[in-house]
Amino acid sequence: MNSFVQSQSFGLKHQFGVYAMGAAKRYPLLPTNYADMVAAAREKMSPAAFGYIAGGAGGETTMANNRRALDDWQIIPRMLRDISRRDISTELFGQRYTSPIVFGPVGVLGIAHPQAELAVAAAAKKLGIIQTCSTVSSHSLEAVAEANGSNPHWFQLYWGENHDLTRSLLSRAEATGYSAIVVTLDTPLLAWREKDIDNAYLPFLQEKGLENYYSDPVFRELVGEDPATNPAKAFSCFTRVFTGPSLTWEDLKVIRSHTSLPIILKGIQSVEDARIALEYGVDGILVSNHGGRQVDGAVGSFDVLGEIAHAVGDEATILFDSGIRRGADVFKAMALGASAVCVARPYAFALALGGARGVREWAANLLADTELTMALAGCSSWQEVSPDNLRQVQRN
Ligand code: FNR
Repeated sequence: MNSFVQSQSFGLKHQFGVYAMGAAKRYPLLPTNYADMVAAAREKMSPAAFGYIAGGAGGETTMANNRRALDDWQIIPRMLRDISRRDISTELFGQRYTSPIVFGPVGVLGIAHPQAELAVAAAAKKLGIIQTCSTVSSHSLEAVAEANGSNPHWFQLYWGENHDLTRSLLSRAEATGYSAIVVTLDTPLLAWREKDIDNAYLPFLQEKGLENYYSDPVFRELVGEDPATNPAKAFSCFTRVFTGPSLTWEDLKVIRSHTSLPIILKGIQSVEDARIALEYGVDGILVSNHGGRQVDGAVGSFDVLGEIAHAVGDEATILFDSGIRRGADVFKAMALGASAVCVARPYAFALALGGARGVREWAANLLADTELTMALAGCSSWQEVSPDNLRQVQRN
């Protein structure tokens, strides 16, 4: 291998590893182009499972806005700036991580692949990516923690009104080594999702994604019997505890008082909410609109990232998701103030197509693409990346 390829970092090595495979007549498992990967997943999956992952709220205009927002900001490449050494590592809550990409929470991954979160954990471990385990995971949060071992993992909380259940889930997460809590705020109710309505499909009704509830002592007490022996009763109990439509900012104190782990609020889309979040002492803000799955007709998440990051300054860590598909998207989010970027739909489709190997291949591609994009834009590390690297294009 020539010195060009050997020049240390992961991106070039991965890229040339793929080309070398081709020379040995071995080829990638997945299409690299996101739209092609989605089309392949659509062929393989049941229409209901595919629709659940692919779909968004209402007319899916927020999903479109997420992409448009990212595409409306463009990178201005800079030249002759010594990019022979490249470092895409990032710091989050006092720890350095080799990957600026985080596997964001995706519930009911069992509809994509039986290994679900365990397969994602295998890929996460291999690549040093933080995995976020959803409250509605298909394997228990304890099993996901065990699969991660020493690889860092975060727990995402669907926050309901039963504070005893919240405390129980938080205690379980702390006891099993999760190192941050991602509290999802944008789901006080399940949105109107046209694909799921067309398919009359809600995975929870088929006992999918309920593992953390079925294994929880508080939930089991609420059901009053083994949930597995009375799924109808367990589901009705779940519908009462899953979401929290009456919760307000004051209730955040329940979470703050019960965990010393960093708290990341997921779903912030306004400067005003970001400021209130700071008043309540949160550690991180994940600028996200749930990938357009909650409010139809909402602002593209990337269109609000810059103003929120600016308002928050260094008072909290900014993370971003909603529409990340390629390295250029990661670069843009880091440029507008994110310290890391969460990915979701693409790894769920990669899981459906290729299990752990599919997730690993997709994520390795994204890391390589991110590194090469950063370097070709003229930057060696995120310290050199700022809003000056971008320009917003005005469209009519
Ligand atoms: C999600 N998302 C999500 N978020 C969360 O906080 N808890 C969860 O359990 C889930 N579950 C989930 C399932 C599926 C099938 C999808 C597609 C998404 C939202 C996810 O974390 C993220 O915010 C969005 O998916 C980001 O948008 P893109 O980039 O995937 O389009």
